[in-house]
Amino acid sequence: MAQNIVVIGSQWGDEGKGKIVDWLAEQTGGVVRFQGGHNAGHTLVVGGKKTILRLIPSGILHETLNCYIGSGVVLSPEALFGEIDELLAAGVQNVEQRLKIAPTCPLILPYHIALDQAREISRGAGKIGTTGRGIGPAYEDKVARRSVRAGDLADLDKVAAKVKTNLALYNVQLQHLHGVEPVDFDEVMAKIRSFRERLLPMLHDVAGTLYQKHQNGERLLFEGAQGTLLDIDYGTYPFVTSSNCVAGAASVGAGVPSQMLDYVLGIVKAYTTRVGSGPFPTELFDDIGAGLAERGHEFGSVTGRPRRCGWFDAAALKRSIQINGITGMCITKLDVMDGMKEVKICTGYTLPDGSQTDILPFGADAVAGCTPVYETLPGWDEPTFGVKDYQHLPENAKRYLKRIEEVCGAPVAMISTGPDREETIVVHHPFA
Ligand code: GDP
Ligand code: IMO
Ligand code: MG
Repeated sequence: MAQNIVVIGSQWGDEGKGKIVDWLAEQTGGVVRFQGGHNAGHTLVVGGKKTILRLIPSGILHETLNCYIGSGVVLSPEALFGEIDELLAAGVQNVEQRLKIAPTCPLILPYHIALDQAREISRGAGKIGTTGRGIGPAYEDKVARRSVRAGDLADLDKVAAKVKTNLALYNVQLQHLHGVEPVDFDEVMAKIRSFRERLLPMLHDVAGTLYQKHQNGERLLFEGAQGTLLDIDYGTYPFVTSSNCVAGAASVGAGVPSQMLDYVLGIVKAYTTRVGSGPFPTELFDDIGAGLAERGHEFGSVTGRPRRCGWFDAAALKRSIQINGITGMCITKLDVMDGMKEVKICTGYTLPDGSQTDILPFGADAVAGCTPVYETLPGWDEPTFGVKDYQHLPENAKRYLKRIEEVCGAPVAMISTGPDREETIVVHHPFA
């Protein structure tokens, strides 16, 4: 029986992680974000009411539940308070009191955002298509050991010294490499002073509390952001985000022993989408792709950009299952495929030298050389939308799911048939 679950994106993000985390959260003693930042956009729909979370863990709508932001997250205090205020305005109670943040989180400051955006412009056609939120530069500072961390805010002189050093470096780049305005020291410090007093009381020994909760027998849910194919090491590099988004990152990013991660729930969209640049072997440029985008409302929840859509890629998922150790899959957005005459599954690729492979290679150049090999299955006319019982799914939809299980080699534990919390089928409960 699983005590703790890691929920991760198995594709290029936006698989529906937020919905499932919110659904599972009710049965836990806490939800933890362990990587990424406010580049994430996690959509929850409860009783028809929509909430989009970027930084705050997707357990926050459960009124008495504590939520945690671990050290692996890059934290924008401005984004955090914007989101807290939105939740408070929507009637969610005690958000600040229930949110605990690791003092070791690196902060995202204005110069990270300026740099992220200036670099994208300089890259021109080769741009990554980042969310422009300063995520990459903030992680660079962490690895370069020059971050202003949340806990540093206790000492403003220390913060000022770090900001000064960092601006000396970045303003040279901004002005002379990218030809844009430098970032003003006084403005950065004014911003830091404006959020400092509100942030300091939220800082907490997250790793310590999670360990204690575990010892007390409470269940914990670790919420991944982005997806495996956007992982800095194993994704389509360099068209990736700047953190590890695979299941193993939960241990490091939350500060818990890896033995605590006893179930990995891979969230898997029933087809594939991607936002931003980079190779996408099963991408569709025709009416079928446009239909998926329209029925699936495939627009980014952070930037509003249209998501690219394509067929289900079982060869990519195989890689994801391998790296994450996916215990069970939750197939989401099955309803978006309702009414399609036939559906395709990519089972492998033909490589530029004519050879075949059944698993996604690493890195953008190798993935760009993959031509998908498809298997075609019949579609289904009867709606799956809102179905809550596996037995009530159309036979061909079950056949599609079975084939995904066979080709990928992992079991389907859950199926999502609509955006609402209730539109969920449980095949094997991850906590059972
Ligand atoms: P996340 O980043 O993985 O949390 O996913 P997003 O929230 O960015 O994107 C998923 C989108 O699909 C959101 O708009 C959800 O409300 C919606 N969604 C989630 N599950 C389902 C589903 O089973 N069916 C449909 N039609 N929409 C879903
Ligand atoms: P959730 O958690 C989809 C993509 C961006 C870009 C690349 C790098 O909602 O699934 P970054 O700003 O992180 O440096 O951008 O990563 N990206 C996402 N795509 N869903 C996300 O998060 C994403 N977060 C980042 O579009 O291609
Ligand atoms: Mg999203």
